[in-house]
Amino acid sequence: MSTGPLIAIADPAILTSIDISGLVALLPVEEQNRFALFKVPGPARQFLLGRLLTRWLARRWLGDPEEPGNIRVDENGRPAFVDLPLNFSISHTNELVGVAIMAVNGGAIGLDIERLESQQVVAETADTVLTASERDDLRCHGDDLDRFTRYWVAKEAALKLHGTGFLIDPATVAVKLMPRYADVSIPESSEWAGKHIRVQLDRLKTGHHIGLAYSDTNMPAPDAVPVIVCQSVGASAPQGIAFKAYDDEPLFHKAIP
Ligand SMILES: CC(C)(COP(=O)(O)OP(=O)(O)OC[C@H]1O[C@@H](n2cnc3c(N)ncnc32)[C@H](O)[C@@H]1OP(=O)(O)O)[C@@H](O)C(=O)NCCC(=O)NCCS
Repeated sequence: MSTGPLIAIADPAILTSIDISGLVALLPVEEQNRFALFKVPGPARQFLLGRLLTRWLARRWLGDPEEPGNIRVDENGRPAFVDLPLNFSISHTNELVGVAIMAVNGGAIGLDIERLESQQVVAETADTVLTASERDDLRCHGDDLDRFTRYWVAKEAALKLHGTGFLIDPATVAVKLMPRYADVSIPESSEWAGKHIRVQLDRLKTGHHIGLAYSDTNMPAPDAVPVIVCQSVGASAPQGIAFKAYDDEPLFHKAIP
């Protein structure tokens, strides 16, 4: 059994070539109900893939192919396993769904994946999501889209670890960007006051930025977090689907200057 964090990433398009109704039927009723609420197929597939990938990763981690992986969602929307000693965090974009998983004694975890394609995002949102000094820093870097995305990913990963998401104003969350990680300070809150969150930052070859947040500074070296890239699926009732893992897929860029 692993102890450190593990990330699995898959493209929701892998679900377009199979009949997903059988997979949906395998979800717990509350997740089937949530799936049924989606009005367009893209986000529905992202949700489904997130839940399938999370349970697949947990079973792989625990070495128990029968583990049902019961999940409960709290009042802020954060999902967690009911009875497994694992924390996890899900993120999706149109092109990728990612899940990070870690033993509960490793602390909470937060994952965010983003690919911002338009420079216009910086003009439209930088003033509302960055602190004044982050805004100055971004200006000094020519409003660079990659740098803005790194700020964004660091904040969102930290707030997902925190469990509040954007119920906390991101402009009150201070980020110190370093080449491979960010140090994040969350404003006063009872549970996390005084706690430090570090977010490992990387960029995928697809152009997506990825942030993995830890609740302390004892994070492993970036290269030590295994990333499993899942590129295809096969039917495997009763657990749903089995992902084919490409552990060594060179999807990651290394250091971001
Ligand atoms: C957390 C949040 C920033 C994620 O935003 P997003 O644009 O959906 O971003 P991502 O795709 O990266 O993440 C989605 C995943 O975040 C997770 N998530 C949702 N709320 C979360 C929270 N409060 N804390 C941690 N993770 C959360 C879920 O696993 C979700 O995927 P799923 O619904 O398929 O399981 C955003 O949902 C948020 O701010 N939520 C809290 C406030 C809120 O709106 N609550 C609603 C009450 S239910």
